[in-house]
This record gives sequence, structure tokens and C-alpha cells, in this order.
Amino acid sequence: MAEPKHGTSPIVVEETPGKKAYCMCGYSANLPYCDGAHSREETGISPIVCEIEEAGKKAICQCHRSGNLPWCDGAHSK
Ligand code: FES
Repeated sequence: MAEPKHGTSPIVVEETPGKKAYCMCGYSANLPYCDGAHSREETGISPIVCEIEEAGKKAICQCHRSGNLPWCDGAHSK
């Protein structure tokens, strides 16, 4: 089982409305979105799926320590 790969800062995207699956294992080739790598790498981790209501800038946590996943809460800098 592969350990999760943690980034050091969030990925900021101009998000569009709709259902999104954010990678929480860190192995996706399409970060911050899940590409199924969590299964291929046998991480035992699942993406966080969200329904985005409004378009706008979002900071997606990559350190996976946010208290408000999948969103960055500044935990990476503490
Ligand atoms: S690829 Fe990382 S959670 Fe799916």
C-alpha cells in the first residue's frame, strides 16, 4: 500500500460549477483532481467529491492537513 504524497502548498484553480473529485492521495497526474491513481497505487485513500455551486477561485489543499478539506485553511504553513 502506497503512502500518500503530500504537497507543500495548495493548488489554486478557477473552478467551474459541477461535481468535482479532488485528489487526496497526491498521485494524480491531473492535480488537484482525482484521476484514479489512488486505486492504481493502492493507497486506500478516496477523493473528496464536491458539488460546486458557483464558479470562482478555489484553493485546494495539497498537504492534506486542512481542517476544512478539500479546501486550504492555511495548515500547510503552520
Ligand atoms: S488519484 Fe488521488 S484520490 Fe484519486
